[in-house]
Amino acid sequence: MLLQSIRFKIVLWHMFILSLALFVFGMVLYHNLSLKISNDTDDILRSRAKGIEQSINTYWEAERMNIADGDSKVHFTKEDNINFIKIAKRWVGEKINDPDLINIIVRIFDAHGSPIASSRNIPMEHLNSHIFYDVKKGADHFENAYIYVNEKSSLFRIFTTPVMEYKRLSYVVQVASPLVQLHTVLRNLRFSLLFLLPLTAVLTGLSGIFLVQLTLRPVNQMIETIHQITAENLKLRLTMPGTKDEIESLAKTFNEMITRLDESFTSQRQFMEDISHELKTPLSVLKGELEVTLKRIRSPQEYESALHSNLEEVNRLAGIVENLLTLARFDAKTTTLQAAPLDLNLLIKDVVEAIQVLAIQKEVTIQFNRAHTLDIIADKNQIKRLILNILDNAIKYTPSGGKISIDLSQQKDSANIDIVDTGIGMPESELPYIFDRFYRVDKSRSSIGFGLGLSISQSIAMAHGGKISARANLPKGTVFTISLPIKSKTTNGS
Ligand SMILES: Nc1ncnc2c1ncn2[C@@H]1O[C@H](COP(=O)(O)OP(=O)(O)O)[C@@H](O)[C@H]1O
Ligand SMILES: [Mg+2]
Repeated sequence: MLLQSIRFKIVLWHMFILSLALFVFGMVLYHNLSLKISNDTDDILRSRAKGIEQSINTYWEAERMNIADGDSKVHFTKEDNINFIKIAKRWVGEKINDPDLINIIVRIFDAHGSPIASSRNIPMEHLNSHIFYDVKKGADHFENAYIYVNEKSSLFRIFTTPVMEYKRLSYVVQVASPLVQLHTVLRNLRFSLLFLLPLTAVLTGLSGIFLVQLTLRPVNQMIETIHQITAENLKLRLTMPGTKDEIESLAKTFNEMITRLDESFTSQRQFMEDISHELKTPLSVLKGELEVTLKRIRSPQEYESALHSNLEEVNRLAGIVENLLTLARFDAKTTTLQAAPLDLNLLIKDVVEAIQVLAIQKEVTIQFNRAHTLDIIADKNQIKRLILNILDNAIKYTPSGGKISIDLSQQKDSANIDIVDTGIGMPESELPYIFDRFYRVDKSRSSIGFGLGLSISQSIAMAHGGKISARANLPKGTVFTISLPIKSKTTNGS
C-alpha cells in the first residue's frame, strides 16, 4: 500500500530526478574545474620557463661582452661552454628566490642532459632519457612525476623545454610545480559533492514527504467520509478542503454526484411508494367486493354484476401496470422507436375522429386548424398516443359546452402542436409538477386518471428529441404545446 501510494511515488521520483541532476552537475563541475586548473598550471609553467630562458640570456649577453672584451663580433655558443655553465649556475643562485619562482622548482641541463644547476634541496640527476629524447628533437615535454624535495618525494607537474641556438640544442630548462594544492582542491570538491549529493537527496525526500503529506491530507479525509456514504446515508457530503485546487474541485464534483444520486434514489423510492399506494386502492376495492359477494349464496345475476365490477377493477389495475411498464421502458431506454415519415395533419385528423365520441358525450367541440403540410420523421403509434393523452385530458377537464382547439404550425426545424382548452385549468403553482408520475392536481376529483398520462407523453416527446409544456389559457383553461423536431433524431434520449 505504501509502495503504491502516490505519496511514495512522487517523493521517490522527485529524489531520483534531483539526484541525477546533481550527479551530472557535479561531474561536469569537477571535470571542468580540474581541466581549468591543470591548463592554468601548464600556462604558468610555460611562461616561467620562457622567462627563465630570457633572464639567463641577459646574464649571458653581459658575460659574453666581458669575455670578448667589448668586441661584439666575437661569437660563442652556449653549448658545452664552460662560461655559460658558470652563468647558468650564477643565475640559479641569484634568481631562484624571485617572487615569480616561489613554489616552482627550476633545473637546468646541458645539451647532453647532464645537470648544470638546480633549485636548492633538489638532487642533481641526469635528465630522464624519455624526456631527453623529446627535447633533443626540439619538442616541449609535460608530465606528472614524483620529485624528491628535502628527501621527501611528492608529485609535480613538470615542464621541460629545449633552448636552441643555431638550430642546435644548447641547454634545457625544466620547471615543476607541486600538484599537492591542485589535488587538495579537487579532493575537497570531490568530498563535498559526495557528501552533499546524498544529503540534498535526503533533504529533498524529507521535504517532499512533508509537502505531499500536506497536499494529500484532504484526500485521506475524503476517503474516510466516502467510506461512510452508503445508499441509506446519501445526505453526507465531503467537507471542502478550501485549497482551491484540483482536490477541492474533485470534492465538489463528488458532492454534486452524490446529490444527483440522492435525488435519483429519493425519486425512485417515492415512485415505489406511489406505485404501491396506487395499486393498493383498486386491490382493496376488489378484495372488499369479493369478500362481500362471498359472504352468502347469491343469485346468478348478483354474481354476474359482482364479476363485472371486479373486471372493471382488474382493468384499472392492468391499465396502471401497462402504463408503468411503458414508463420503465422509456427510463431504461429500451423502447425502440419505429421512425418513419409521418404526415402530422393526417395523424391529428385521425386522432380527433377517434376521440370525437368522447367529446360528443361531454358536449365539447374540437376544432383542428391544420398546417399547410407538415411531415416529420417519428414513430406514428407513439405520437398518436402522445396527442391522444393530451386531448383526453382536455376533454376530461373541460365542462360541457367548452371548446378545444388544436393548432398545428411549423417553427424553424420543429412542428408545434398547441392544444388549447377552455376547461377548469389549474393554479400556476401546479404547473411544474403535472408531468411528474402519479401527480394529479386534485386527488379527489379524478377517480378515472392515474396521473401517468402526462409523464408518458413527456417521455415520448423527449424520446423524439422534442418537448412538451403547459401554461394557463386566460381567462380559463390550459394550453399544452408539443414541439417535435421535423427530422427527429429518435434517439430515445440517448
Ligand atoms: N387540460 C387540463 N386541464 C386541467 N388540468 C389538467 C389538464 N391536463 C392535465 N391536467 C392535470 O394534470 C394532472 C395529470 O395529468 P395526467 O398525467 O394525464 O393524469 P390523469 O389524466 O390520469 O389525471 C391531472 O390529474 C390534472 O390535474
Ligand atoms: Mg390523463
